Amino acid sequence: DLYNFRQIEPDTKVHGVIGNPIGHSKSPHLYNTAFKKAAFNGIYLPLLVDNVANFLNTYSSPDFTGYSYTIPHKMAGLECCDEVDPIAKAIGAISCMIKKPSDGKLIGYNVDYLGAIAAIEEGLGGSSSASNGSVSPLAGRLFVVIGAGGAAKALAYGGKEKGARVVVANRTYEKAKDLARKIGGESMPLTELNDFHPEDGMILANATSVGMKPNTDATPISKEALSRYSLVFDAIYTPKWTRLLREAKETGAKVVFGTEMFLNQAFVQFEKFTGLPAPKDLIRETLARNT
Ligand code: ATR
Repeated sequence: DLYNFRQIEPDTKVHGVIGNPIGHSKSPHLYNTAFKKAAFNGIYLPLLVDNVANFLNTYSSPDFTGYSYTIPHKMAGLECCDEVDPIAKAIGAISCMIKKPSDGKLIGYNVDYLGAIAAIEEGLGGSSSASNGSVSPLAGRLFVVIGAGGAAKALAYGGKEKGARVVVANRTYEKAKDLARKIGGESMPLTELNDFHPEDGMILANATSVGMKPNTDATPISKEALSRYSLVFDAIYTPKWTRLLREAKETGAKVVFGTEMFLNQAFVQFEKFTGLPAPKDLIRETLARNT
């Protein structure tokens, strides 16, 4: 049930997710279902790719109009773009690529950060500032990002773009310093996070893998320290309730699940692919049924 089309026609828009491995990806089912709902003449394929540049050269047919990028090709994808959105360039990775119909140029974007930031903004009680152009509820807030890898970079850039005061905490302090320097934020070693409480009402985002492994109950911050945060986001979405989010809930903080980040980036990407509003309820239901 991956596909909903009977035949590919000359004007069918072809999309795919480029990764390795790729068979596990939920994206083909999700997008094909959403394309059908929106009456969009497009398909979306799982593309097992070793070498992104070779793949793009081989499949340069104009029918291929959009790609998603996943592990481990988000950085290689960036190198293959004709133009890169400034934020994706700053993050150092793309999550999707659109072929411009007018000249066939490949434009790279990183919508991961948009998804995460929209989820946090909605959690703060506002609507996503990306969707309505209003001032972000993150503006002026102290936003602590744990981690300094790809996910943390996207969150830190996104937070900074929305006017938050970003602090990066990472196990390897050098990487926290580098990321903070790049975005114009502050940094600290992860070991100092439990003693960091300059003010109440801070926002916390975990972008490490701590809490993800099955049968571990690890958390990157003490429960006591969590009481200083009014909202806690975890980029991990398996399991849904990490220890971090359980304890955050117990301290009275608003919790935002990793699935929200996944869904929001899917909404943004759908709109980039189709130019149509995303059928959000359908995408949400389809993911819930398949996870
Ligand atoms: P991603 O692209 O998904 O962010 P990554 O680039 O591998 O993945 O980054 C993983 C992050 O989780 C890093 O910030 C890493 O910290 P280091 O920079 O010190 O490696 C962090 N991380 C992973 N395991 C951790 C652990 N047990 N304790 C603390 N941080 C951890």
